[in-house]
Amino acid sequence: MEAAGGEGDVAAELRQRLAAGGQDHVLRFWPELDGAARRALAAELCRMDVAEINRFFRRARGDGGGAAAAAAGLDARMEPVPRDVLGSASRDRGLVPRWESRGLAEIAASRVAALLLAGGQGTRLGVPYPKGMCDVGLPSRKTLFHLQAQRLRRLQQMAEEQHGTPCHIPWYIMTSGRTMESTKEFFQKHRYFGLKKENVIFFQQGMLPALGFDGKILLEEKGKIAMAPDGNGGLYRALGSHGIMDDMERRGVRSVHVYCVDNILVKVADPRFIGFCLEKGADCGAKVVEKTNPTEPVGVVCRVDGVYQVVEYSEISLGTAQQRGPDGRLLFNAGNIANHYFTTAFLKDVVNIYEPQLQHHVAEKKIPHVDITTGQLVQPEKPNGIKMEKFVFDIFQFSKKFVVYEVLREDEFSPLKNADSQNGKDNPTTARHALMSLHHCWVLNAGGHFVDENGTRIPAIPRLKDANDLPIQCEISPLVSYGGEGLEQLVKDQEFRTPLIIDEDGIHELVNNGV
Ligand code: UTP
Repeated sequence: MEAAGGEGDVAAELRQRLAAGGQDHVLRFWPELDGAARRALAAELCRMDVAEINRFFRRARGDGGGAAAAAAGLDARMEPVPRDVLGSASRDRGLVPRWESRGLAEIAASRVAALLLAGGQGTRLGVPYPKGMCDVGLPSRKTLFHLQAQRLRRLQQMAEEQHGTPCHIPWYIMTSGRTMESTKEFFQKHRYFGLKKENVIFFQQGMLPALGFDGKILLEEKGKIAMAPDGNGGLYRALGSHGIMDDMERRGVRSVHVYCVDNILVKVADPRFIGFCLEKGADCGAKVVEKTNPTEPVGVVCRVDGVYQVVEYSEISLGTAQQRGPDGRLLFNAGNIANHYFTTAFLKDVVNIYEPQLQHHVAEKKIPHVDITTGQLVQPEKPNGIKMEKFVFDIFQFSKKFVVYEVLREDEFSPLKNADSQNGKDNPTTARHALMSLHHCWVLNAGGHFVDENGTRIPAIPRLKDANDLPIQCEISPLVSYGGEGLEQLVKDQEFRTPLIIDEDGIHELVNNGV
């Protein structure tokens, strides 16, 4: 390594520090790098706490063994969510209006915030931009970010109308080093989708290096470390390091709805969920959908040794997954959809006290990297290393009053994970169809009807001729309806041809023969 003045000193110091942690191989190609590449690598390494990374690795790997041993007896220690902790949008229908008005009152008092987890890499979807910027081909061509922003606007309007006071729902958006700039630019370009700029707060989660199975940091290029976001549970560290809890406190926020970017049906800052959690006096809540198929690959919310957590489908036996309760439903049926309620007081405790106790989960991945001896780029065909991630639900264990809120999957959950080309599940087509099917139902429930090209009414439950049959093409702007409300005056006793679009400018692309 050249000792070229200040640069050389920095490199020597870095090498010493890295060597102390057994990670100085990352400087192996230093002599081949030009000045700019050296500065960039040095800056990246200076920000890195090598001792901490090694500690994370040892704990995560150690816990791997511990977790496996613990998991061996997991089935026997699991208990389903008791009924008194559970609220159900369908089974407790009578209580829903009360929960909704409680939630709306809280929103009207500007005490509710939404927090979007948008720091993922979206590798399965494979688009070269953040997932929230994805347009799944809806008639309006709205992106996921656009839909979520409009849902927030509509909620603010509903709360204001009911309570007569202006209010706002701050929207905290967590991105990663890889997605921050493009996300911000997208919001600027779209003028924050009509929200006030000062109420949209971006912050960045941490990144960790990808490691080989031996704990050695991998290089993405000769002068670049292979970095990955530290999981959606990186939220808690990021909340502390970016002063977000102080910002929430300053704004008077008391309840936070945390959710994932990729669920096209997400009810952002859902007043029913918030109202339910408030009524129960909960500090932490999980929204779930019923798991109906024992082999569905979804984590379930349950108690283990009396403590709430999410148990992954891979951690339990088929026998446990198949167990049914007296009502015939699966015993462990609270399917986690990463959609949570937290009080700010609880979040503050997590950030200040509990976060360091959270352990990383290890995901074995195929990680492209530079071979340290040959300098060649390797594209592995099988997993060659690990990424370390914390999960957003890892904090349930610290809750003093935990509740679960069950909703219908067709109303609230359709995630975008895969590309259309990959497989038939959780892709742009299924997301688009889920939204249009829901909006079709809203129109029917509000007394509207659909007719075909001959003017004949289409049955409410259309008879699908074959697998390629499309759902009724119907899209309702969130600015018109947040959850199906307010449509009667627009559609009752009307007949519509598709595609039907209802937005703030009216009803479009339809033949309307009021009957
Ligand atoms: P996923 O686990 O589905 O990951 O994230 P992903 O990045 O979207 O997709 P793949 O696995 O690379 O294909 C669930 C939610 O958690 C967020 C994502 O943005 C998504 O909203 N997330 C994930 C983060 O915010 N940070 C992370 O480090 C990981």
